[in-house]
Amino acid sequence: MEHHSNDLPWRDKFIVDYISIDEDGMLSIDDLEDKLNKYYSCIRLVTVTGASNITGYKNRIYDIAKLVHKFGSKLLVDGAQLVPHAPIIMSNNNAEYNIDFLIFSAHKMYAPFGTGVLVGPKSILDKCEPDMVGGGTVDIVTHDFIKWNDSPQRHEAGSPNVIGSIALISAIKTLNKIGMNNVDRTERNLTTYAISQIRNIPNLKIYCDTSKMTNRVSIIPFNICGIHHELVAKILSYEWGISVRSGCFCAQPYIVKLLNISNEFLIKRVNNPDLSHPGMVRISFGLYNTYSEINILAYALNKISLKKDYYIRKYENMKKTLFDV
Ligand SMILES: Cc1ncc(COP(=O)(O)O)c(C=O)c1O
Repeated sequence: MEHHSNDLPWRDKFIVDYISIDEDGMLSIDDLEDKLNKYYSCIRLVTVTGASNITGYKNRIYDIAKLVHKFGSKLLVDGAQLVPHAPIIMSNNNAEYNIDFLIFSAHKMYAPFGTGVLVGPKSILDKCEPDMVGGGTVDIVTHDFIKWNDSPQRHEAGSPNVIGSIALISAIKTLNKIGMNNVDRTERNLTTYAISQIRNIPNLKIYCDTSKMTNRVSIIPFNICGIHHELVAKILSYEWGISVRSGCFCAQPYIVKLLNISNEFLIKRVNNPDLSHPGMVRISFGLYNTYSEINILAYALNKISLKKDYYIRKYENMKKTLFDV
């Protein structure tokens, strides 16, 4: 269920295996346990998303931590979608439940692009080879000798993004002041309301279990049968000023499973780039969203669904002028 950025970077460095999902699209803890047993003591790192950027499901990261530690491995949590939306505790009273490594991105928590965070044990980070090397990463250099700096410097090559860091700290302080429990509750209420407003729209299919509201962040993936996801997103934007994303959301293996299509279908597009690409539309809420915005969204989706032939014709005619310039 991972974003490509928590999959592709590992592939050329390690032997990678994947944990299955169940029929609702949730990570299978049973499969994780089977894999931990299968590769017993060979697994260096288990890496899971804290919350999915497609279904919004939160993984049971503390239970996963306990399991992973039992097998002598470490856990890395991709917090890109969790940290801005819900509380997370890395160090618990009981160390079995600790999150060893946490990563997250500034631009997903209202700070500018270009900064990200890796939190991990200094004892390990002080031993790791830097992924990117350059100015600032070294203590001593000769033409044939390098002694890396300790962390964090050894992992921060080049001139630092000072403004990005200051803005990120400001974003963290602001979110903390609001309180992550408040953010979580506000966004969950918005999501529950949105689901209640759109779930009965004819031809609209939601791709997550909408009954599990407590262990998810504010994301709703859907399609309207008979109209391409990309067109739905464009109509919402053009006609109602509503911004959603459509497509595969940088998690193609997960999308393939959720849509119940074959990998072959995806791969066919290599030689046929004009084939329509699979995907969904994704609604996501931040703490600034309002109930009246959701009412407009529900109205718009209802209208698109009921008048889809009209919209398809209209946008087919407008295609050249509207989107291709
Ligand atoms: C779950 C998840 N992980 C990782 C990322 C990648 O973050 P970045 O854009 O900072 O590379 C994203 C971005 O969409 C994401 O949703």
